[in-house]
Amino acid sequence: MRKIGILCSGGDGPGMNPCIRSIVRTAIRHGFEVNGYFKGYYGPLNRSFIPMTLSSVGNILQRGGTMLRTSRCPEFLDYENRKKIFENLKLDKVDALIVLGGDGSLKGAQLFQKEFNFPIIAIPSTIDNDLKGTEYSLGHDSAIRNAVWAIDKIRDTASSHDRTFIVEVMGKNSPYLALNIGICSGAENIVLDEEDLNVGELAHGILRGMRRGKHSSIIVVSEGKTPGLSYNIQKSLELDFKLKAHVCVLGHIQRGGDPSPTDRYMGTKMGFLAVKKILQNLTGVICYKKGRMSLFNWTKPIEKRKDYLKSELDLAIDLSI
Ligand code: F6P
Repeated sequence: MRKIGILCSGGDGPGMNPCIRSIVRTAIRHGFEVNGYFKGYYGPLNRSFIPMTLSSVGNILQRGGTMLRTSRCPEFLDYENRKKIFENLKLDKVDALIVLGGDGSLKGAQLFQKEFNFPIIAIPSTIDNDLKGTEYSLGHDSAIRNAVWAIDKIRDTASSHDRTFIVEVMGKNSPYLALNIGICSGAENIVLDEEDLNVGELAHGILRGMRRGKHSSIIVVSEGKTPGLSYNIQKSLELDFKLKAHVCVLGHIQRGGDPSPTDRYMGTKMGFLAVKKILQNLTGVICYKKGRMSLFNWTKPIEKRKDYLKSELDLAIDLSI
């Protein structure tokens, strides 16, 4: 095997660049050439790539986003386009592909590998950290840090003005980001799921806090299926409980910025291991579990995980008294 292709697909995230750097340097050291494909699956579809060199990944370790750029590529859903990608990879003499992305991107990679028997190593990379089989996906730690940084500032205004803020965070219907952000920012309430939402309980908690002399209240809300749930909560608090709250939707500020040391470390290790596994002619997803990083083969379907720790939520509830 002589040449590896890399692409980033789906949402960008801090940690992708450290991972690309690690893949390129490890691969070149082991005698591979590396094609860096641009903009996700559009890269191999349009044969848009650069041959990567040791210096092409210099000075990216500390940068957010991805130097290869990324995309959500609906064209990939079409079999004819996937076939074209396969043909193009053959034309480019690529023997194995490394794909960084979230559940949609990795499901695509799994399908492609199966359809064309093309060797792929996938690296979980989504700030949502919601992939089954791995306890860590690149970008999650930096996204928590970014949101907590923002909420600390919101807290200053909230406590100076005796205000309640509803802070909506990303996570596309997955609870992990909101849960960790809530715990780390000392939120008084965390709303993980629209279905479990009880505005009465939220109101009761805010009023109880006020009675014991609290000057601020932060409700962290996971964005849910469609962003904007916070505005419904705001309306209900005001109409049903006469409580005024301000909404702050953090949005993409969470996904940018320099990768945290954890994301640099995890990205570097995942990239290194991906190349090592290609050297052994193996394929699958690089997963992190119980303190160990290993290859999870493709036999199981790529799915979202739903199993957040109830004890974590209990911790947040206990501390928000
Ligand atoms: O999946 C990562 C994520 O950041 C989600 O948390 C969020 O819902 C979504 O991507 C936003 O996607 P886009 O940047 O394409 O609007």
